[in-house]
Amino acid sequence: MSSVYKNRSVLSEDYQPEAILEREDEKQAYGAALSPILNGGKPNNIFVYGNTGVGKTAVTRYMFRQLDDRLNDEDKDFTVVWQNCRNQTTSYQVAVSLVNELAPRGEEIPETGYAPPQVYNMLFDLLDDAGGTILVVLDEVDAVGSDDDLLYELPRARAEGNLKDAHVGVVGISNDYQFRGQLSPQVQDTLCEKEITFPAYDATELQTILTARAKAAFDNDAYDEAIIPQAAAMAAKDSGSARQGLDLLREAGDLAAEEERVIDEETVREAVDRLERTNVRRSVQDLTNHARLALISTTLKTVEEKERSRTKNIYEKYAVLAEENGDDPLGYRSFQNRLNDLSMMGFLDRSTVNKGERGGKSYTYSVTNDPDVILDAVSELNY
Ligand SMILES: Nc1ncnc2c1ncn2[C@@H]1O[C@H](COP(=O)(O)OP(=O)(O)OP(=O)(O)O)[C@@H](O)[C@H]1O
Ligand SMILES: [Mg+2]
Repeated sequence: MSSVYKNRSVLSEDYQPEAILEREDEKQAYGAALSPILNGGKPNNIFVYGNTGVGKTAVTRYMFRQLDDRLNDEDKDFTVVWQNCRNQTTSYQVAVSLVNELAPRGEEIPETGYAPPQVYNMLFDLLDDAGGTILVVLDEVDAVGSDDDLLYELPRARAEGNLKDAHVGVVGISNDYQFRGQLSPQVQDTLCEKEITFPAYDATELQTILTARAKAAFDNDAYDEAIIPQAAAMAAKDSGSARQGLDLLREAGDLAAEEERVIDEETVREAVDRLERTNVRRSVQDLTNHARLALISTTLKTVEEKERSRTKNIYEKYAVLAEENGDDPLGYRSFQNRLNDLSMMGFLDRSTVNKGERGGKSYTYSVTNDPDVILDAVSELNY
């Protein structure tokens, strides 16, 4: 077989699909929230929520493309400033990035050295220079955590007299449901003027999305069509994320290309396994020494006991491993915390056992991934 792909980039993260499928309700809600702009009114502030991979970024980009086309046709002044906040943990950092996004080339400012009010003033001046209607999109905005100063200042800049020529709307996008609750009440009031929620995709919806992408990405005879419902069902069951489904198709395509075979259901099963191995390897790599030992001991216990293990039993195993490894074992309490961290990170599944009359709780743990996959990942790290 000569090739698998017609266009592999169709399955990549930064590909922007021409058509947004299966999101009619959300597009409509978005359109309604944006409609004042079309009528020359003041833009709403909008908050967009939903789990990872459910189309928040893709739909937002699509809506703005459409809006931009329409407003440009009508010769209206309309600007979108898009900022991904992923690596920006403070309002200050985001404000600097926005300034640099808007500043003329050569007039960018360094990331430190200004007082926050100075940066905000520069930002307001630049927004006023641009004028017209401006939407500031803060994607993955939860990265700023509780430092929501900018989210307070920006939506009320005009009311406070800091903006004269520009009408600014803020669009915040987040996959962290707790983030909204952490915002100060004033910020919640203004920023969440309109809220749009994106639910997880079900298998049928994912099938529509994956069918279109597979057609554009793969050669016609490179794949068995049965892989589409298969991949859709897997992603729907696990996360409801279109990204997960697309990742699966790409991994299966790569595997088929390497081995010069057709992508069939067996290829997809192998791709699932490969993706799991890659993910586990990546996350194990980032663990501290003791967290890794705690994970290994839970894994070994799960294999030995063939059932969930109690903290006490895992700790005994851990203490032996740590000694063998030449490390001082953590105390019991710290070890409990380590197990708790591993559950929060998704490595372990924890459940509570009530200890009966004298009250008190204890926990049992099992590993969420295939034990072999974990142990392979650890040994590859040359532990
Ligand atoms: N309705 C859809 N139609 C076509 N493609 C879609 C649709 N929804 C999602 N996708 C595709 O799935 C992938 C993930 O979508 P997107 O990046 O929009 O997720 P997100 O909700 O922004 O996730 P995160 O919270 O992780 O940023 C992208 O490649 C996107 O093109
Ligand atoms: Mg996104």
